[in-house]
Amino acid sequence: MSDEDPPSDEDLLTIVACGDPVLRRPADPMDPADLASSEIRRLVSKMQATMAAAPGVGLAAPQIGEAIQLAVLEDGPERWGALTEQERAFREREALPFTVLVNPRYESLDDRDQVSFFEGCLSVPGLTGVVARHRRVRVTGFDERGEPVDRYFAGWQARIVQHEVDHLHGVLYLDRVETRSLSTVDNYARRWAGRSLREAAEGLGFVLATQITQAGASAIASD
Ligand code: NI
Repeated sequence: MSDEDPPSDEDLLTIVACGDPVLRRPADPMDPADLASSEIRRLVSKMQATMAAAPGVGLAAPQIGEAIQLAVLEDGPERWGALTEQERAFREREALPFTVLVNPRYESLDDRDQVSFFEGCLSVPGLTGVVARHRRVRVTGFDERGEPVDRYFAGWQARIVQHEVDHLHGVLYLDRVETRSLSTVDNYARRWAGRSLREAAEGLGFVLATQITQAGASAIASD
């Protein structure tokens, strides 16, 4: 089928789970000149469809078994689930149009400015846990046309970016998670959704690395 056809089920790629070494080695940088190839354009389209079907807000090429520095991101109301307006505002979760990052790097703008929330990963099925992330990051790299990217991301978008760029360097959220916060998705929904992180910290016996100043409930965003 041509690149212009809408995605179908045949476009869905298999997402690999932790334990596969492709998730644990640094991915190879891409030559931006290759981005115009029909092969890469098809791969980006399939990654977008796979991310949407999962559903997830980000997908890195190693997660579909390709050890290249390519990631796709997208967030919006269709992925916000049962989040209330207040919960979404607390997360600084804003819609992110479909975005492609090639050979990306991020740097924090202020190492002291971190926020903790539950997050999940499509390659770590069934689990969620609390990760402290930089609240604002600067991202450099290339887009899907090979044009240089130099962008700032904040809030939930910054969380998604850090999670996906980590994937491209063999890092999973499991490496950064408060291990005692790890919950099955079922237990998260039953016990911690809609409750504050402080309650989760008390209940599970972990220390919140970041200052939580509001009674923020938590929600999973699988990346
Ligand atoms: Ni992930």
